Amino acid sequence: MKTIIEPFRIKVVEPIRMTSREERECFVASAHYNLFALHSDDVLIDLLTDSGTSAMSAAQQAALIGGDESYAGSPSFFRFEAAVKHLFPFKHVLPTHQGRAAEAILFSVLGGSRRMVPSNTHFDTTRANIEATGAEAVDLVIAEGHDPDHLHPFKGNMDVAKLERFLAENAAAVPCVMMTVTNNAGGGQPVSLENIRETAALAHSYGKPFIIDGCRFAENAYFIKLREPGQENRHVEAIVRDMFVAADGMTMSAKKDAFANIGGWLALNDDALAQSVRERLILTEGFPTYGGLAGRDLDAIAQGLTEIVDEDYLAYRLRTSAYIAERLEALGVPTVKPSGGHAIFVNARKFLSHIPPLQYPGQALAVALYIEGGIRSCEIGTVMFGRHPDGSEHPAAMDLVRLAMPRRVYTQSHADYVVEVFETIAAQKRQLPGYRIAWEPERMRHFSAHFEPI
Ligand code: F0G
Repeated sequence: MKTIIEPFRIKVVEPIRMTSREERECFVASAHYNLFALHSDDVLIDLLTDSGTSAMSAAQQAALIGGDESYAGSPSFFRFEAAVKHLFPFKHVLPTHQGRAAEAILFSVLGGSRRMVPSNTHFDTTRANIEATGAEAVDLVIAEGHDPDHLHPFKGNMDVAKLERFLAENAAAVPCVMMTVTNNAGGGQPVSLENIRETAALAHSYGKPFIIDGCRFAENAYFIKLREPGQENRHVEAIVRDMFVAADGMTMSAKKDAFANIGGWLALNDDALAQSVRERLILTEGFPTYGGLAGRDLDAIAQGLTEIVDEDYLAYRLRTSAYIAERLEALGVPTVKPSGGHAIFVNARKFLSHIPPLQYPGQALAVALYIEGGIRSCEIGTVMFGRHPDGSEHPAAMDLVRLAMPRRVYTQSHADYVVEVFETIAAQKRQLPGYRIAWEPERMRHFSAHFEPI
């Protein structure tokens, strides 16, 4: 059949509160045109993030009830640990309350001034946690990864030649080599198994541990199955194990590819490093068998990990993004190609070419999507990356708007609605104003800045 259906039925529903265009104009003005400041029940289709927004399965809901809330040695922890180790063959698994806590703990030990941590592209929390220790976060994705129109099958790949030069010059300052799968900041683009293996081998030839940020590991593995020669007949679980057997550790946000609303972990092979981070974990997260989570959360993750590697789910998941991207392209709305796993990234700079980058075309499109259709998206461009530590402001490499798809939450008619809203906007896009920033905090301004239409 041509139609790829949602491979689930709906048992529990959450009503969407309908709003009018006039109401939304008021809501967004009182939010200072910053979509993070909206009340989420004033949003019709919330595509702000795919993080923590998944719908749990009946089996996950049942697992919650089975959660054991003992402070130490809970059976929930051992179920969680077994589920993690089934897919990711690491010796030590430390639960954390979410992905950035795993990053903070890891870099409290591996970071420090004058250190440098290369990756394909660090996610912003990873970068911030590295920089908070005084170290430098370095992105070395392949050149194709920066070109929104380039149809490379693995645009998240590390530029191995660049990494080699980087290590030759800076090895003494490098505590580890990282890799983000899929590459969220670069458009949800996958990394090939071959590239993971080459990067691991290169890191190891310099005696450096290789750590994977595995947030969207299952989507990445399914892209490998679809696109990497020789992988097409393998089960996704086997591909996942191959991706991680090459690594010495991983950081993870269970809010993505574990179908959980909260949670994460840090996994490592090295005993001494695991001991240091475990001490840190106790200080900031909790005892090592719960790490800032309730027992029920650990059980939801354990069950979620068995569901995320289901290939019918993954086929539907990747098709959802591709479907929306294809329909947007047909309307003349440019997107980052090929479409990624968890999100569609719209090239707002190209779509709203009448708005210069320093008037934030991504923000302009995000506000228009909310006013026109109640859709909440996220600017990933000059608002997020344009301000530099010295206070200066420059256009970011790209001005994108991310439509992140919560897992198992929206149906095809929701997707069709999103496309229709774009169609309405496309017809009158020349009238959309740019924005100026009326107030901004010192760091991470996109979360709380106030904007004004120009
Ligand atoms: N790494 C990647 C690649 C991520 O996408 C995220 C979160 C994190 C680490 C941090 O995990 O949120 O559990 O602390 N990304 C979310 C997003 C917030 O919307 O892309 P966390």
